[in-house]
Amino acid sequence: MITLITGVDKNFLIGNGIMLPWPKLPADMAFFREKTLGKTVVMGAVTFESLGKALPGRKNIMLSLTPLKASLDKTNITVYDSIAPVLELAKTEEIMIIGGRRIYKEFIPYADKIYVTFIDDDFTGDVYFPMTAVDFFSWKKTAEIVREADEKTPFKLTFTTFEK
Ligand SMILES: NC(=O)c1ccc[n+]([C@@H]2O[C@H](COP(=O)([O-])OP(=O)(O)OC[C@H]3O[C@@H](n4cnc5c(N)ncnc54)[C@H](OP(=O)(O)O)[C@@H]3O)[C@@H](O)[C@H]2O)c1
Repeated sequence: MITLITGVDKNFLIGNGIMLPWPKLPADMAFFREKTLGKTVVMGAVTFESLGKALPGRKNIMLSLTPLKASLDKTNITVYDSIAPVLELAKTEEIMIIGGRRIYKEFIPYADKIYVTFIDDDFTGDVYFPMTAVDFFSWKKTAEIVREADEKTPFKLTFTTFEK
């Protein structure tokens, strides 16, 4: 099973350069951790560069056609040069696709579930999720939890689950 997990702003923005457009959002980080811990996470080379190292407590897969930069920590990361081995793994386990745009786009046709955290603000950036509200019409919204802003996470978040 293939599951995407992403955070988007009001305009479906997901990135600014190689970074996230927003400051750290502890409530969303906790949600991401809860949904991915103990599972296999798959990311693109740009997203891995942004993280700088593998995520602990998860099997990490990075997709890339080029050798990893020498400065990056290669511990606990498996590199594949195509999506085929990931699709094979997905026959027996839930694979979490964690971004970025290119990787989401490649896996959307195979995805059964998408977790979207809607962040209720406009941010600055240049990378957008490859789906907009219209594209979600063919998906069923199966869960929606609204979390009001607080001091640590100063934006309203809506944790939404879409299923095929
Ligand atoms: N808001 C969120 O939830 C979220 C989550 C993750 C990332 N992001 C943001 O998304 C942005 C990055 O997205 P992006 O689209 O630029 O990059 P990306 O998807 O992270 O990585 C793209 C790279 O992955 C490799 N790749 C992609 N498809 C491949 C394939 N089929 N086989 C082998 N390698 C493949 C290529 O690397 P090589 O060039 O090395 O071959 C490609 O350049 C950043 O701004 C990041 O902060 C946001």
